Amino acid sequence: TYVVTENCIRCKYMDCVEVCPVDCFYVGETMLVIAPDECIDCGVCEPECPAAAIRPDTEPGMQGWAAFNAKYAALWPNVTEKAEPPADARDWDGAPGKLEAAFG
Ligand code: SF4
Ligand code: F3S
Repeated sequence: TYVVTENCIRCKYMDCVEVCPVDCFYVGETMLVIAPDECIDCGVCEPECPAAAIRPDTEPGMQGWAAFNAKYAALWPNVTEKAEPPADARDWDGAPGKLEAAFG
């Protein structure tokens, strides 16, 4: 399973949804997540993210993000079409503290 991580927040480029063969992205106000029970682990989305926010959950330190993706995929609506990223997406790319600012 792949997971969406902190750098998606306020970047939300959405290139990922265009390539997922099983449409397993879910959308919140500031970011997307992947439903772990739907992701087929194909890895196609990882290089498509301009913010490098998508990681395999087998990487060290990903347990928290795996739980985060599972939690919000159950709460947020499915998304299959790319929308306009925020106008200031580039300013937020790599900015620190985005998780706490958005989810406190
Ligand atoms: Fe979709 Fe494949 Fe990315 Fe999983 S790894 S979210 S199936 S594109
Ligand atoms: Fe987020 Fe990257 Fe997709 S910024 S919306 S995971 S393309």
